[in-house]
Amino acid sequence: MTCLIMRKMLFTTLLLLSLSTVASAQYNNLWIPDTISGTTFNLNMRDTFVQFLTGNQTITAGINGAFWGPTLIFKKGDTVHMNVHNYLNDSTTLHWHGMHLPAVMDGGPHQVIPPGTIWQPYWCVTNNASTFWYHPHLHKETTMQITSGLGGFIIVRDSVEATLALPRTYGVDDLPLVLTSRNFTALNQLDTTRAYGDNMLTNGVLRAQVSLPKQYVRLRILNAEVERGYNLGFSDNRTFYVIGNDGGLLDAPVPVTRVKLLVGERAEILVNLGSDAVGDTVNLMAYNSGQEFGFPGSEPSSTGLFGSLLNNANFNVLHINVAATTAGAITTVPASLVSNTYWTAADATVTRSLTVTDGNPGSGIPFHFDGTAFDLATINKTVGLNNIEEWTVTNSNVFGHSFHIHDIQFKIISRSSGPVASYESGWKDTYYLHVNESVSFVAKYSDYADPVHPFMYHCHVTLHEDGGMMGQFVVDSIPTGISNLEKEISDYTIYPNPATNRLYISFSDPAMHAYYIRITDAIGRTMYMLPGPQLTRGIDISHLAPGSYFLQLMDDKTKNTITKKFIKE
Ligand code: C2O
Ligand code: CU
Repeated sequence: MTCLIMRKMLFTTLLLLSLSTVASAQYNNLWIPDTISGTTFNLNMRDTFVQFLTGNQTITAGINGAFWGPTLIFKKGDTVHMNVHNYLNDSTTLHWHGMHLPAVMDGGPHQVIPPGTIWQPYWCVTNNASTFWYHPHLHKETTMQITSGLGGFIIVRDSVEATLALPRTYGVDDLPLVLTSRNFTALNQLDTTRAYGDNMLTNGVLRAQVSLPKQYVRLRILNAEVERGYNLGFSDNRTFYVIGNDGGLLDAPVPVTRVKLLVGERAEILVNLGSDAVGDTVNLMAYNSGQEFGFPGSEPSSTGLFGSLLNNANFNVLHINVAATTAGAITTVPASLVSNTYWTAADATVTRSLTVTDGNPGSGIPFHFDGTAFDLATINKTVGLNNIEEWTVTNSNVFGHSFHIHDIQFKIISRSSGPVASYESGWKDTYYLHVNESVSFVAKYSDYADPVHPFMYHCHVTLHEDGGMMGQFVVDSIPTGISNLEKEISDYTIYPNPATNRLYISFSDPAMHAYYIRITDAIGRTMYMLPGPQLTRGIDISHLAPGSYFLQLMDDKTKNTITKKFIKE
């Protein structure tokens, strides 16, 4: 590098530093997503825009809003019905990250929702109280669609968590925090040409600040980046407590001063502001300077595909202003939380291994599993229903990864790099896979056999996922001793026909049921996608414009379809 270039870089760096000092003086108030509770959730995905910067607005996408989406509050045991309406100009999917549900409801790359379509999955919430999220999962488009702003939190509540003395007043002493970063073009548009953003966004807000009460506060933190990891801590190095991992509360709070969160991971933490004075400030920080090789965001460069001003740096995530104590404040950390029974290696009857391999070095994102790029048409693994399995994922390539698997919550039983940290000792669905490391986890694949729709496992660094670092498995087979209840459908009738608001279906054999129903309009556009439709409720067609439509019904057994025409009045 010539001296001239170096001097230029130094000048630019100084300029940027002085700009950011000026800018950081002025904070923006943290946005807290609205909540939706109950059992019916209407989610409208739209292209929209946000005034992030002065000048041009930024084209974004949001769910019921301009960027990101509402927080869905589920109660364990409820059956939740989702009405996902894709008003985007593009196909998408919506995946319920961390939820245990039938694969056909999972919202993975196979459940493509074309523009203008309503997708209506539903399932019984069996997950424990914890923090989950939902986001698009369209193959090769996940980075783009998450970057545009699509996603949201899910908070599951249950009767065990409800009895604990924990903060749980949403937006007051119990806050969701989604951490991402973005780059903007000269015209203020989202720039997806680089892996790491220069601008930290906390709940979609640049330079976010919040007033929090002088007491214990619960933060539900999600890393929803496309690549960067966060090594979180507070600016005065105070101790805080990890109370929950991806899939539930820990047995007891774990005191820490730092927590690493890779893409897709969540941590619930308790932080004590009770010893601060009203008016004091403290920052939640990313201490990303000096991280080990392979930590996403440890790269020293500030420009180029893997460069960022936030790389290998400590930076502010949230500026906290301490405010007055609220009524009913939590002032102590519970000594214990819940009693989890984890699977152990001894419970596993099947072991499998996966290896992260270098893909086609010309592809730009050269990571695969076991030497093969993801292929929608290839089922990589078949897991028997109710199997307890130990999976070992080995990373012998050149970068760290964030391994995630759908359907289940697992227990990490070993890391070849050293002990499993107590703060990640709970139920997990995503974890940091270091360079040169093997990680083993145990899980049970219960409840939902489906030989057709698969579940995914992948790197949650969405650039890696989009580049083919993904595989799929089906949970298969009817458990022994249970007879196959699936039936082939010989015929059915739609009534009333013509219909105005609701359609009903009657089968020649009343024991039959449908695996999937798709309603298309006269020119073949998909209007409704109904996985496992509960036909006794009827099909709500009130959104359809008057005209003629086709209903395609797929049966449970053969997965053959029978198509019938109906008229909407
Ligand atoms: Cu958060 Cu396969 O996804
Ligand atoms: Cu990866």
